[in-house]
Amino acid sequence: MSKKLKLGVFGLGSVGQGFYELLEQSNHPNLEIKKIVIKNPNKIRTIASTVISTTPGDILDDPEIDIVVELIDDASTALDILKQSLRKGKAVVTANKKMLAENLEEIYWLQEKYNTPVIYEGAVCGSIPFIRNLETHYAFDEIQSMEGIFNGSTNYILTKMIEEKKHYAEALEDAQQLGFAESNPTLDVKGYDSKYKLAITIAHSFGCFVKPDQILNLGIDRITEHDIRFARQQGCTIKLVAKAQKMGNKIVGLVAPMFVPLESPLAQVKNEFNAINIVGSATGAQLLTGKGAGSLPTGLVVLADVAGVAAQYKYSYPKIQANEEISFESNVLVYAHISFGGTNGVHISDFVEFTGGYQGENRHFMNGWIRTQKLLEWVDREDLSIILKNDVQWRACVQEKEREFSLV
Ligand SMILES: NC(=O)c1ccc[n+]([C@@H]2O[C@H](COP(=O)([O-])OP(=O)(O)OC[C@H]3O[C@@H](n4cnc5c(N)ncnc54)[C@H](OP(=O)(O)O)[C@@H]3O)[C@@H](O)[C@H]2O)c1
Repeated sequence: MSKKLKLGVFGLGSVGQGFYELLEQSNHPNLEIKKIVIKNPNKIRTIASTVISTTPGDILDDPEIDIVVELIDDASTALDILKQSLRKGKAVVTANKKMLAENLEEIYWLQEKYNTPVIYEGAVCGSIPFIRNLETHYAFDEIQSMEGIFNGSTNYILTKMIEEKKHYAEALEDAQQLGFAESNPTLDVKGYDSKYKLAITIAHSFGCFVKPDQILNLGIDRITEHDIRFARQQGCTIKLVAKAQKMGNKIVGLVAPMFVPLESPLAQVKNEFNAINIVGSATGAQLLTGKGAGSLPTGLVVLADVAGVAAQYKYSYPKIQANEEISFESNVLVYAHISFGGTNGVHISDFVEFTGGYQGENRHFMNGWIRTQKLLEWVDREDLSIILKNDVQWRACVQEKEREFSLV
């Protein structure tokens, strides 16, 4: 029988508790939790106090501990835990998308340097096994595009707004009561959570490291009933979509609310569910769907990662290793529908190609091709609702230049 591996767990919140319970139930013969480090010693826990500690050194300085399971809600402390663990030859399993997205390139090199793995399926779309699929099934397929619903809270809110005609604030409150949204929902509703996941998946799908601040994220918090009515008239629903695609040797990607045609597979993904639609040159389109968050779905993926490490699994980053000349391009032309209440919304000259608009009773609507760089300037504008059209191909800005030249 192989050696029993000792685990040190940081964090016993929603995911940590789920992981703990599932490991207990699994009776895994080779995995044993030696210590759990938490922050607040006064919280009432259901777990024996002998295992619990508030001293990180009880895990990091214990030579018997082989695997560190990092499940805390603080990205900068999580990075510190990860670095100290790798330095000591301890493998790391983490679900911390913010920490991973902001530091993935460094984490990749640290794994090489210390020859010790970091595994993080739980960081991207909870229970959907996506990173592992990219590592193995899609390792030799050229990924052309990838788009998905990466955030369950926003999908739940949009489902309630569209199907039950609830206002944004009411739908958000429902999501919070059911535990699908945080009391501070900013990271979810403004698209940051989806963008962290997108940054991680871009590395595994296309072989290119991208920092989250290079990726445009537009939120769902300004969507109105007017936008929803417009979507219905077009035979569409609205989803917060994280999307990336290959254009030559560039990868373009962003997170934004999008009009999704009702017949599209993503339109059928409702409530708190997540989905990823991936298109490979050999495989064509494939849809993966499931629960994207929650104590047990995420706890289970973390357990699978820990069992994987115990069986010597590590990421091989085939797309990064392929060493293609590929880079992220943050400026692309997208087709946008912009609506606003006052008269100082946007101007025709803001568009590269204005295709039309109209004035409703108390709302203006403008449509056309626009640079993502321009949208980036408007990220904090509370007066604009920006929704992109999902079923049109993005255009590279270089094409726009070529058209300008051909007009001269
Ligand atoms: N919730 C989900 O469905 C989900 C899904 C995918 C990924 N994730 C990711 O998983 C991680 C954990 O999320 P969560 O929802 O489980 O968070 P949570 O419920 O807020 O729990 C956070 C835990 O971290 C502990 N903690 C915070 N700072 C610490 C520190 N410096 N040292 C030791 N422990 C510390 C807290 O200790 P106390 O108990 O003492 O307060 C608590 O147990 C996050 O990175 C999150 O993004 C969550």
